[in-house]
Amino acid sequence: MADNKKTATLSFGDQTLELPIFTPTAGPDVIDIRKLYADGGVFTYDPGFTSTASCDSQITFIDGKKGELLHRGYPIDQLAENSHYLEVCYLLLYGELPTADELDDFEMRVTKHTMVHEQMHNFFRGFRRDAHPMATMVGVVGAMSAFYHDSTDISDPWQREVAAIRMIAKLPTIAAMAYKYSIGQPFVYPQNDLDYASNFLRMCFAVPAEEYEVNPILSRAMDRIFMLHADHEQNASTSTVRLAGSSGANPFACIAAGIACLWGPAHGGANQAALEMLKEIGTPNKIPEYIERAKDKDDPFRLMGFGHRVYKNFDPRAKVMKQSADEVLDLLGIEDNPTLQVAKELEAKALQDDYFTDKKLFPNVDFYSGIILEAMGFPTSMFTPIFALSRTVGWISQWREMIGDPQQKIGRPRQLYKGATSRSYVDVENR
Ligand code: CMC
Repeated sequence: MADNKKTATLSFGDQTLELPIFTPTAGPDVIDIRKLYADGGVFTYDPGFTSTASCDSQITFIDGKKGELLHRGYPIDQLAENSHYLEVCYLLLYGELPTADELDDFEMRVTKHTMVHEQMHNFFRGFRRDAHPMATMVGVVGAMSAFYHDSTDISDPWQREVAAIRMIAKLPTIAAMAYKYSIGQPFVYPQNDLDYASNFLRMCFAVPAEEYEVNPILSRAMDRIFMLHADHEQNASTSTVRLAGSSGANPFACIAAGIACLWGPAHGGANQAALEMLKEIGTPNKIPEYIERAKDKDDPFRLMGFGHRVYKNFDPRAKVMKQSADEVLDLLGIEDNPTLQVAKELEAKALQDDYFTDKKLFPNVDFYSGIILEAMGFPTSMFTPIFALSRTVGWISQWREMIGDPQQKIGRPRQLYKGATSRSYVDVENR
């Protein structure tokens, strides 16, 4: 990556600094400012990290202008069409597509870890039934470090590997348990002769009193949703995982931090918010009113599932998701779904409006995913937990990459301080 022949010249006051420039394999050049404070005595200011590369990475690449998303070089639409989630997990974790034997071995390793420690059932019971499943997941995943402390030593590659496999294997079980607990039904144990997505659907929808047969159409759609969410380079939750991990925290604690960050409506929480918004709009004739609200600077309302920090053309995941929504509703025989109608018309109307086109606001992955998940029978509160379990592999891959990086340091941003300068303490009676 490093091509230190190119430099950038930065002049300020009476100083001139030559800053090395890195040339990546794809994407814009990156100016190396690591010595800026040491050599020039200044910081840079970049709230929201809009222009700052926090690490180097070989996992995922996004070209926001082209609407391109690559995992280890493979385009997301090709993966969504031809691959499946566990193969994508292998690709993200280890860097290459697996051979048939490698895939078998990986699937076997993941499958063997799908059950959670029996004592964890009691842990779940400490939560209120009406807790949001994301709240339960943050707690339970954080608690994994108390249950699996034989895989928390980050200096041991074997323990790191076991922790990774454990989380990929157990997150669907934990998400399904959070759901079952919230609706007062018994937990359903994993069934390891099922594939990853089918197993998750069964753990969510089976009950002990009845046989449950997984619909292969739904299982394929579920797997595709997992794939489309698997990784997305240095987004807020991934950066949270890396930042938490930079202090040497154990991997379960780091993933719990990622889940907490993902929950926000500007990030993973947008899929729940998007479906709720589409239902609130309800009928196409109310769309103009909501578009006007989204454009009104005095109204905090935003079109949920619209816009992206990086994609300024289209979100390639949204394209696949929209197509998937059509297919799933069609295959399930759900005709004239009013929410899908509102979504399509809202997208069409927004994209004819200068406000959205000028600001390059397009539907993102969350715009259509809720429609599919709802058709499958999931309540909105489960949308973000499904995003979290899908993204777990991305978080772990990025965390592992960071731990193996010799440049890795504890994350410690600086600040532009605007508070009071040094002043003397005043006793309470004199204030
Ligand atoms: N509706 C209306 N206006 C919007 C929207 C929206 N959804 N998104 C951005 N804008 C406007 C915003 O008001 C701002 O206008 P101005 O320049 O006049 O102040 C401009 O577009 C740029 O917005 P920003 O907030 O500075 O952009 P950002 O890169 O910081 O935020 C975002 C990106 C995704 C947080 C934002 O577009 C948003 O809040 N979208 C809705 C929530 C959402 O769908 N999130 C899911 C993101 S994809 C999945 C994931 O990453 O988890």
